[in-house]
Amino acid sequence: MSDAAERVDAMMASAELRALFDAAVDAIVVTDEEGRILAFNRAAERVFGVPAERAIGNRVEILMPEPDKSRHLEYMRRYLETGQAKLIGVGREVEAVRADGTVFPIMLSVGEARSGERRRFVAIIRDLSAQKRAEQHARSLELRLAQVDRFNLMGEMAAGIAHEINQPLSAIATYAQTVRRLLERDPTNTAALATIAEKIDTQARRAGQVIENVRKFIRRQESVTETLDMNRVVADIRDLMEADAHAAGIRFEVRYGTDLPKVRADAVQLQQVLLNLTRNAVDAMRGGPARHRGIIVETSRSADGGVRVSVTDHGPGVPKSLGENIFDPFVTTKATGLGVGLAISRTIAQASGGKLDYGDNPEGGTVFSLELPAADG
Ligand SMILES: Nc1ncnc2c1ncn2[C@@H]1O[C@H](COP(=O)(O)OP(=O)(O)OP(=O)(O)O)[C@@H](O)[C@H]1O
Ligand SMILES: [Mg+2]
Repeated sequence: MSDAAERVDAMMASAELRALFDAAVDAIVVTDEEGRILAFNRAAERVFGVPAERAIGNRVEILMPEPDKSRHLEYMRRYLETGQAKLIGVGREVEAVRADGTVFPIMLSVGEARSGERRRFVAIIRDLSAQKRAEQHARSLELRLAQVDRFNLMGEMAAGIAHEINQPLSAIATYAQTVRRLLERDPTNTAALATIAEKIDTQARRAGQVIENVRKFIRRQESVTETLDMNRVVADIRDLMEADAHAAGIRFEVRYGTDLPKVRADAVQLQQVLLNLTRNAVDAMRGGPARHRGIIVETSRSADGGVRVSVTDHGPGVPKSLGENIFDPFVTTKATGLGVGLAISRTIAQASGGKLDYGDNPEGGTVFSLELPAADG
């Protein structure tokens, strides 16, 4: 056994210390100042899949993947010369490698022990694989749920969407009849025909745009963060929200605030929030007595200098017993509801650094408000 290993063995001779060392949940690896492994606890054996007797005496680089593996000696040399450490005393997320070659994420913190001239390094290593996997799983579920919500929204809005497409289609039919009449009366009037052709083209594009928006809305999975003008975001789905309200005989109004700062978010996701809120408002007011008072979507500056978008309805209000639970997934009072709309909407708001809350409308009904911080610069 080498000198150094003997010294550590002596250090570990205390039964209590040895027990402590092996009971630790995190892997602990002690090295000398040349990077040779002096001690390797139970957790380290488990995490790295290397028995202590094989690890001890070996270089610590066997636990590292490239590029750290080749650079480690240089890091250590620099530290010993300059005393400037990138790792000592601060935890860092890095990668490690198991005996079978798999690379995995770890939280690494390194401490230094000096006794006389000698220095030892104590690395505490937490395997983050399970945590990372769980995070990734949660994220992918969230993405799936968001997509389910979008499908759901489009299904529920079918009447409004059909109306949005039917309008340009019936305009096109009307123009076609006008063309026929023009041709009967004066086929040489090409100027008039050209004007109508242009109008038909515009209407066809409008119908195409509605379909394209629906497709975009359903297909997209990855989020794209951009600097956005909230009024633009609202304006782009105004027609769809309005068609949805009108299909239920409910008045609909948008009030655009002026001089709003820009926000950083994903436009499709913000529209998803707005559609969820107006859909809920439509559901709340459907068949109710205050349909003429309508749904109001309003943009304004928020108290903390960001942007606020509120959706005000004149429905019966959120049942008091539900309180904040309405933001939990699968909480619904609707026979055909999934109860995911508000859960997803709040997740989206928070992912953009904002928040989604609600309160009573003093005139009766509910006010939902989405607030986002102003984009920097
Ligand atoms: N504007 C509102 N007025 C009254 N109650 C509301 C309003 N918005 C939401 N709620 C209540 O909150 C519940 C949860 O809303 P959420 O949008 O999450 O789900 P949902 O609308 O029931 O179903 P989904 O949105 O998945 O189709 C609703 O079922 C309803 O009881
Ligand atoms: Mg809903």
